[in-house]
Amino acid sequence: MKKILVLALVAVMMLGVFAVAQAEEPVKVGICIYQFNDNFMTLYREELQKYLEETYGAEVTVVDGKNDQNTQTDQVNSFIAEGVDVLIVNLVQATAASAVTALAQEAGIPIVYINREPSEEDMAAWEGMICYVGADARQSGSMQGQIVYELPDHGDINGNGTVDYVMIQGDMENVDAQYRTEYSIKYLTDNGVEVNKLFEQRGDWMQENGQQLAATALAQFGTEIDVIFCNNDAMALGAYQAITEAGRKMNEDIYLLGVDALDEAVDLIEKGEMTGTVLNDHIGQSHKAADVAIQVANGEPLDAYYWVDYQMITGE
Ligand code: GAL
Repeated sequence: MKKILVLALVAVMMLGVFAVAQAEEPVKVGICIYQFNDNFMTLYREELQKYLEETYGAEVTVVDGKNDQNTQTDQVNSFIAEGVDVLIVNLVQATAASAVTALAQEAGIPIVYINREPSEEDMAAWEGMICYVGADARQSGSMQGQIVYELPDHGDINGNGTVDYVMIQGDMENVDAQYRTEYSIKYLTDNGVEVNKLFEQRGDWMQENGQQLAATALAQFGTEIDVIFCNNDAMALGAYQAITEAGRKMNEDIYLLGVDALDEAVDLIEKGEMTGTVLNDHIGQSHKAADVAIQVANGEPLDAYYWVDYQMITGE
């Protein structure tokens, strides 16, 4: 009897050792963000880390590129030296993709690019081992234009026959800034609306810059302005402050558009204090980026692109 018990105990112990040896090591993920000081990318990176840890038990490290490509390239090198299984990279400069891919390729570490889309050529450099996860910025631009077009006056709030607009742009390193600028207006002109650009400047996605640029435009053009388009909500929130300070009445004598659907912007829209925004789905994008990062870390090849849709948000 005693012998049987001892044998059983030994068997159980051996099974235990076997199970520990079999238990998978957590996937090590190195995440490079272009800069932590960005409202939208803060929501994105927090969700990305949480989802990777909770869903996959991954070992995640997130670093701040401080809006400097050299800093970020050093961080990529450190992750490679540490031997991460996969990198998720939000480039500072989209044009750095070829250099960053080359570093990772040499070490055999796959990359999921997010938020700042590299060129098609750069995305073809290492098939199955790199991909881009993002949203098509043309869509967000068109949606801003559509929100304005669907207003009863098609955006010509002062009724002078043209939509006189101000464009506050993001950092041109992100193709989102170029496409949103172009496609918001294209939607209007494609639908036969006459437009007139009064003012266009870069606010680099930052609320303070949005406020300052909108204040400058309002001082210069006053009631000539029908619409202020901002490439993102942070800048639109800044523009909102400037509009209020200038004593203008939102949706009565001026319209204001953003992109991202930050909570503060959605609150303003609900109160009729902002015209519209476009949901930049950080949950959908971060989950997709995490899913495909784990997939490639487990040896399954990647598609080149994974797209997540935008969605229009208006008072209705
Ligand atoms: C955009 C987003 C902006 C900013 C930018 C950073 O997609 O709308 O708010 O976060 O990415 O690259």
